Amino acid sequence: MLKRYVYRFKEQELGQLLAETGIPLEVLNREGQELEVAAYKPLEGYEPLRVEEVKEGWEDWRGQFGPVEVESFVILPPWKEAIYINPARAFGTGLHATTQLCLKMLSEYVSEGDRVLDVGTGSGILAIASKKLGAGEVVAIDVSEEAVQECIQNAKRNGVELECMRATAADISSKFDVVVANLEIDIFRKELRHITPLFDRWAIFSGIYGKRELEEFLGMLREAALKEVKILELEDWFGVAASR
Ligand SMILES: C[S@@+](CC[C@H](N)C(=O)[O-])C[C@H]1O[C@@H](n2cnc3c(N)ncnc32)[C@H](O)[C@@H]1O
Repeated sequence: MLKRYVYRFKEQELGQLLAETGIPLEVLNREGQELEVAAYKPLEGYEPLRVEEVKEGWEDWRGQFGPVEVESFVILPPWKEAIYINPARAFGTGLHATTQLCLKMLSEYVSEGDRVLDVGTGSGILAIASKKLGAGEVVAIDVSEEAVQECIQNAKRNGVELECMRATAADISSKFDVVVANLEIDIFRKELRHITPLFDRWAIFSGIYGKRELEEFLGMLREAALKEVKILELEDWFGVAASR
């Protein structure tokens, strides 16, 4: 049975702990400056508040039925969604850890009918995934015209309707339920202030490399009066979900 270890930390303490260990933590609760977080392995030197057993039910059983590939066929069970991406020049084939972190968080935070904005859409993969998760209107923006054209083509391939356009966050005036942005720390340094006013419920960020960038990024979120609700790590890349 999978276990999770629940701890309580002061916000400052948590930043230091993340910088030291890099262990991904799920934020369960926040009371003032104190956060209750869960780790899926024990944190050395810290006493957990409690240890909980996480149910592994039929969903794990379903997880055994991965895609079967034979020649040009890929056979999928009906609960899996296919995304077709033509591997061309735009970033976003699904192979990179930063894209995978966003796909994981979109699966958790996008609800039926949501309006979603994808900042730095590249191939359009995250915008297409949002549609397949049930989002209503999805707007996908990129500074590269080549990416915008590939986003349009990939949307057609997947039979979804997206608004793909050449723009930055500063050009957008409407609000969205969810904003996803897989960029880079030096782009976040300039763009975060334009991205944060654009969402109502969840913001999903990725493209943050290593613990030092993570610490800097969490500081930027605090300055923007946002709180992190989830931090995921894959191959030294970090993904952060935030709310107001
Ligand atoms: C790392 S790729 C992410 C692609 C895709 N969303 C994914 O997750 O695989 C970042 C994309 O952001 C675009 N980009 C860079 N700076 C940007 C900005 N200020 N505003 C919008 N898009 C930007 C790049 O052209 C690139 O396509």
